[in-house]
Amino acid sequence: MIPTSTSNGGGNVQRPPTLGKILNPASNRVKSRTTNSQEVARDITLTDGVAVSVRVIRSDDAPALQRLYGRLSKQSIHLRFFGYMKQLSDRMAKHLACVDGINRFALVALDPNKQDEIIAVVRFDREVGTDKAEYAALVEDRWQGRGLGLAMTRRLIIVARDRGVRCLYGLVMRGNRPMLGLLRRLDLPERERLVQDAKLVEVELRPVGCVGLEFDARGGAVAYEPKKKCDCC
Ligand SMILES: CC(C)(COP(=O)(O)OP(=O)(O)OC[C@H]1O[C@@H](n2cnc3c(N)ncnc32)[C@H](O)[C@@H]1OP(=O)(O)O)[C@@H](O)C(=O)NCCC(=O)NCCS
Repeated sequence: MIPTSTSNGGGNVQRPPTLGKILNPASNRVKSRTTNSQEVARDITLTDGVAVSVRVIRSDDAPALQRLYGRLSKQSIHLRFFGYMKQLSDRMAKHLACVDGINRFALVALDPNKQDEIIAVVRFDREVGTDKAEYAALVEDRWQGRGLGLAMTRRLIIVARDRGVRCLYGLVMRGNRPMLGLLRRLDLPERERLVQDAKLVEVELRPVGCVGLEFDARGGAVAYEPKKKCDCC
C-alpha cells in the first residue's frame, strides 16, 4: 500500500494504551462489543501445519519491526512501501508500533522458533472521523504463500468491524498478485479502480450477520459468530 501519513510514519507518535485497554477499550468512544484477547491472539495454523502465534502490536515492538524490515527482499519492501529505503528509521518503526486500539490497530505474527522475531504485520489506520480505514499487510518472504496474510487479515477484519470500520481500502501495485488474490479471497464486496500504476481496492465490511466467519483450517478458525441468515442479504 502507498505510505500515508497515518500508516507509515510522520505525524505524532502517541503513547499507546495498555494491552488490556486496547482489547477492552471500555472507556473509548467506540465500544468493543465482542472482540477479546482470546479471539485475536489465538494461534494460526498455516497451510503446511506450522502453528504461528499472533498478538496485538506493542510499543516495544519497534526494534523487531526494524529487524523484520532488514530481512525483507527488495521486492517485498517495494510492494509494501512503494519505494525503497535501506532501513526502517527509528521514527517510522516507533510510529508503526504505536496503536490506539480504535483508530490504529495492528496484529503481528511471531516466528515459532524465535518468539521475539516478528514475521508478519497487518494493520488498519482509520481516516479521522470516518468509518473508512487504510489497510496494509506485510509477510516476511519465507513465510509468504502459506496462508498467513489471509488468516491475519481475517482476524484484523473482526477487530476493524468491532471498532466501527465499514470499509478497508488500500492501494495495491498492479501485478501484486498475492495481495490482489488475498483481498479477493476475503469473499467480501470489493471495488477496484486504477490509479496510475496501482489499483485502489476498497473492501466493504458488511455487518457480521451477513458473512460467515467460520474460517477453514488455513484461515485460523476464529470463532466469532456462527454463520446465520440475516435480513439484509
Ligand atoms: C501480499 C501478502 C501480504 C500476502 O500474504 P501471504 O501470506 O503471502 O498470502 P496467503 O498465503 O495468505 O495467500 C492468500 C491468497 O493470496 C493469493 N496468493 C498468495 N500468494 C500468491 C502468489 N504467489 N501468486 C498469486 N496469488 C497468490 C492467493 O489468492 C491466496 O489464496 P489461495 O491460497 O487460495 O491461492 C504477502 O505476500 C506480502 O507481504 N507481500 C509483500 C508485501 C506486499 O505486497 N504487501 C501488500 C501491500 S499492498
